[in-house]
Amino acid sequence: MATKVKSVWYCTSCGNESPKWMGRCPACGEWNTMVEAPVEQKKDRQASKGRTPAVERKAQNLRDIDYSREARISLGMPEVDRILGGGMVPGSLVLIGGEPGIGKSTLSLQIPLRCPSLRTLYVTGEESAKQVKMRANRLGGDDSQCFIFCETMVENIIAEAEAMKPDLMVVDSVQTMFADSVDSTPGSVSQIKEVAAALLRFAKDSGVPVILIGHITKDGYIAGPKILEHIVDVVLQFEGDNRGSYRILRGIKNRFGSTSELAVFEMTGTGLREVENPSEMLIPMHEQGLSGTAVAAMLDGTRPLLFEVQALVSSAVYGTAQRSATGFDARRLNMLLAVLEKRAGFHLSAKDVFLNMAGGLKVSDPACDLAVICAVLSSNFDFAIPSDVCFAGEVGLSGEIRPVAQADRRIGEAARLGFKRIFISSYTSMDEKTPASIKVVKVADVPALVKALFK
Ligand code: TYD
Ligand code: MG
Repeated sequence: MATKVKSVWYCTSCGNESPKWMGRCPACGEWNTMVEAPVEQKKDRQASKGRTPAVERKAQNLRDIDYSREARISLGMPEVDRILGGGMVPGSLVLIGGEPGIGKSTLSLQIPLRCPSLRTLYVTGEESAKQVKMRANRLGGDDSQCFIFCETMVENIIAEAEAMKPDLMVVDSVQTMFADSVDSTPGSVSQIKEVAAALLRFAKDSGVPVILIGHITKDGYIAGPKILEHIVDVVLQFEGDNRGSYRILRGIKNRFGSTSELAVFEMTGTGLREVENPSEMLIPMHEQGLSGTAVAAMLDGTRPLLFEVQALVSSAVYGTAQRSATGFDARRLNMLLAVLEKRAGFHLSAKDVFLNMAGGLKVSDPACDLAVICAVLSSNFDFAIPSDVCFAGEVGLSGEIRPVAQADRRIGEAARLGFKRIFISSYTSMDEKTPASIKVVKVADVPALVKALFK
């Protein structure tokens, strides 16, 4: 008689595990996200445990742990090193997630080609060695230390890596790999979990840093799903509009550094080029200023970043007004519109409002509120805000403008880019002297802002 295979269900959106199927995940509230995965056989578990080499597993005094060994490895691309917190930590597992065609394979092949001192094992389950060679030719650089291995079984990959002892290993992609010990198809939740766990064990035991590539589902989740984020040390997300040429690499989780770092790349005919001054690309080129746009001074991790917020306000065609936001939280937009309505007397309830952040950026810094309000009002009045003005302030529910963190750095960056005026909260406390080339306008609430800007 065949033994019954036991299953568990995983939520593809949050990784929650449940012993039975449910229409709605109790943890994140998403509908129809539970997928079935067979429970791993106990025998296999023990086998996989037995495989780990005998590393000294004894409690150590923190004081005695040798830290100097953990020197970071530079990947030859300063922006990537910066996002990782100053290079890659030996023995770490870094997940790069992104939609198909965004440039994950390009980035991970460009690293060994740019950095010939790193002996790299590039494992691909998606392309043939010839295809990788073609791409490498296109990218240029030195390919003498880069080894291509076309394989999808993780046990073979680890055996090859143990024999070769590379300085860096790239695995493209987690969805195509499978572990022999698990009895389900590649790309399923249990396979992805086991593959990532096996690579993590290899990385930790051997000290070889591993870059793992993962595809993202259409909902924006790293397919296979959040459970991967718990396993790996660093999660980087590659985003942007893959019709345009700009790509944004963003840290989502980092055990060895700050997560809010962001780097901008341009996809060129010969690979990805790092954009050193992203603000210059994200702010408008037009001299005069157009109605419906305002520049926000955002802080991305440790770096100030200026970009354009665009809004379009028009009379609602249908009975209920539409509100849509790209790159900005739609609920926050509704809140800001309610503040404008209630605290400043603008009647926007019968208007459609569309909001867009330039360059495919997704923002979460509350300092962008002020620019959002100004872009909406500018479109509503059809009044162009001068192109040398920018904004940094959070808007509260009573219409007050609240101070933002590190105002000095935002002002400094705005001055460096040639802005003449910046609007900030009256309650901002500043330590440093502001540059002489920029005028800091302090406003206390939304009516005061409207008076100062649109009079
Ligand atoms: P790729 O790295 O294959 O994407 P992913 O691995 O995330 O699926 O990138 C594919 C896109 O990048 C493809 O549309 C072609 C483009 N590209 C360039 O524009 N220039 C280049 O030098 C390379 C290698 C790719
Ligand atoms: Mg690819």
